[in-house]
Amino acid sequence: MQKIVTVIGTRPQFIKSAPVSKALQAAGLTEILVETGQHYDDTLRAIFFQDLHLTLPHYNLAVGSGSHAYQTGEGMMRLEPILLAEQPDLVLVYGDTSATLVGALTAAKLGIPVAHIEAGLRSFNRQMPEEINRVMVDHLSSWLFTPTTIASDNLRQEGIKQGLYQVGDVMLDAVLQYEQLAQSALQDWLFEHNLEAGKYYLLTLHRAETAHQKAAVQSVLDFLDQQDRPVLFPVHPRMSWVLSQSKQYKNIRCCSPLGYVDMLCAVLGASTVLTDSGGLQKEAAILERPCVTLRTETEWIETIESGWNQLVGLSVSALEAALKSVATPAHSLRSCYGDGQASHRIAQVLAETPGATTGAEPVYQPTVTILPHPC
Ligand code: UD1
Repeated sequence: MQKIVTVIGTRPQFIKSAPVSKALQAAGLTEILVETGQHYDDTLRAIFFQDLHLTLPHYNLAVGSGSHAYQTGEGMMRLEPILLAEQPDLVLVYGDTSATLVGALTAAKLGIPVAHIEAGLRSFNRQMPEEINRVMVDHLSSWLFTPTTIASDNLRQEGIKQGLYQVGDVMLDAVLQYEQLAQSALQDWLFEHNLEAGKYYLLTLHRAETAHQKAAVQSVLDFLDQQDRPVLFPVHPRMSWVLSQSKQYKNIRCCSPLGYVDMLCAVLGASTVLTDSGGLQKEAAILERPCVTLRTETEWIETIESGWNQLVGLSVSALEAALKSVATPAHSLRSCYGDGQASHRIAQVLAETPGATTGAEPVYQPTVTILPHPC
């Protein structure tokens, strides 16, 4: 394997690519980075390139916002000539976004093999555009790098047995690489934000289906504003309407989206994390902070089964009950997500695979579980 084209486009993908890009480079692989331009706001993009010392993308498709069909169609048309010019051995994609689908579909149509990081996650809710992306991309991929046993089992149940590598979670790799930095910055960070450790809630909301339920979100915010502690709320641009009324809150403290290390500080200092984010549920569990998820389902089932996370949707009564019953489970969930070496395993697998040329049959290894997981 010589040359990889990686396609990314959103905040969580910038974060996930940080440890993987380093590992690919260390393994002597050439990575050409293509950014779709899905997240273009500086608070969702530029700050991560600085914080995580990411290589600037070689190409930016500048697709921007739009419907799913627009982002997918336009993205594919803009990516195709790049893949034809670069002739990569494979295209690497992360997670479940439009960028993931664009990368995988364009590559597959050109006969270029696809590698999918964070394969096998399922919410089993086909109303979610992300769920459609996950299923499509997993079924197009030659290398499926799964984070957990549950994700690997999901793939096997769909008949995917070839090319499956349970490597651990690259988000754990990222947390482990930056946790020490966040721990040493924590006291200053708390002082700067006028917060006390263990005495505030951290809230994030950004998902499209949350943003569309304005009245329900408003009720949740009104309820949280009546609680006995401050609520730090980094506001995603999609939720910017909240800012127009933020002056009326006494407990909720709105701020701009945080950079990655600041976000780790915010989680470490919080008593409980309240979120509709996928990644944050897991980071809370990894950093041993209880989480209440303002969704009705999750892809990270183990966070629920272990007691680190509760699902409440946007129901105020369920949220109230969850906050009353929040507890810190005795067992850490960290080892569920591997050992922080997922990125190196991915790089190793790809580096050891003989180069596949465009249009050729991808070279499969037999199904191996590289990393046994306790859960
Ligand atoms: C979800 C979607 C994904 C979509 C993305 C859009 C799922 C399973 N995935 O991912 O398809 O593209 O939303 O954003 O639903 N963070 C910061 N600063 C902040 C807030 C979050 O650094 O102010 C970090 C978190 O620590 C975490 C990551 O961003 O590492 C999570 O990103 P988020 O935008 O919440 O995305 P997901 O819900 O994980």
